[in-house]
Amino acid sequence: MNSNKNVVITGASSGIGAALAHEFANRGYNIALCARRVEKLDNLKAALSETNSRINVITAALDVNDLESVPQVLNDIKTQMGHLTIVIANAGITGVRRTGSGDLTVDKNIMQTNLFGAIATVDAAMAIFREQEFGHIVGMSSFSAFRGIPGSAAYSASKAALTNYLQAVGTEMFRKKDIQVTAIHPGFIRTEIDDNIDKFPFVIDADKAANTMVNAIEKGKTDIVVPSWPWALLRKVIPLLPNSVMAKVF
Ligand SMILES: NC(=O)c1ccc[n+]([C@@H]2O[C@H](COP(=O)([O-])OP(=O)(O)OC[C@H]3O[C@@H](n4cnc5c(N)ncnc54)[C@H](OP(=O)(O)O)[C@@H]3O)[C@@H](O)[C@H]2O)c1
Repeated sequence: MNSNKNVVITGASSGIGAALAHEFANRGYNIALCARRVEKLDNLKAALSETNSRINVITAALDVNDLESVPQVLNDIKTQMGHLTIVIANAGITGVRRTGSGDLTVDKNIMQTNLFGAIATVDAAMAIFREQEFGHIVGMSSFSAFRGIPGSAAYSASKAALTNYLQAVGTEMFRKKDIQVTAIHPGFIRTEIDDNIDKFPFVIDADKAANTMVNAIEKGKTDIVVPSWPWALLRKVIPLLPNSVMAKVF
């Protein structure tokens, strides 16, 4: 590998993950792209390598729902790259469901990918970081971690749990100055995750979000909202809003 900074991104085949890959590539990082749609990763690898000849890009098929494969894939990437500087647990799904339908399939899938898949990624990264004695884990949570979104109860709960999990891991690592933990809370970012994203307020493009995220990661921030305006303010207000206001907005 050319540079000494290596970043692993899960959910790199589209949206925020792909945009993060472009942003890190422009800053000279070697990149490991992970997701299930390998052909999309190969296309992204070709695009990144063409515009950034100094970096090395590798791809790895990864389904974070296959919990036992996650440490295997990360260890294999570490062997190829030499060390891991940053691991971003970004893979995630959404799904809308009204409570009371009796079918928990949507909720179970969301919890499996967004919570257990992310935990598996964080855990595998931390095992490597403890051995290396350095590293930076980044978890892609959501603004919905601060207040449950109607119709997206499981999604909101998965992200609230992930934020809480990352807070605990950050505290565990408090004395290990060279191991960092960052929780990112995006507002609404234009990606494949929701065809109707433009119906929501304050939507921004993924490349703009990625630029803000990587700035914060490089500064070693522990907890951020993206974009900061207006979400940093809303973060304080939204837990206090009555259900009548939430129902109107969403
Ligand atoms: N966009 C927003 O407004 C927004 C807001 C808050 C939080 N987020 C979070 O940001 C993250 C990225 O979402 P996005 O908006 O960029 O959506 P996206 O374009 O749909 O990207 C989701 C990524 O996750 C991957 N993924 C899904 N299930 C996976 C699995 N089982 N194993 C491995 N990879 C998997 C997908 O790749 P494959 O299908 O190829 O596996 C894809 O690369 C998610 O965690 C999401 O919850 C997004």
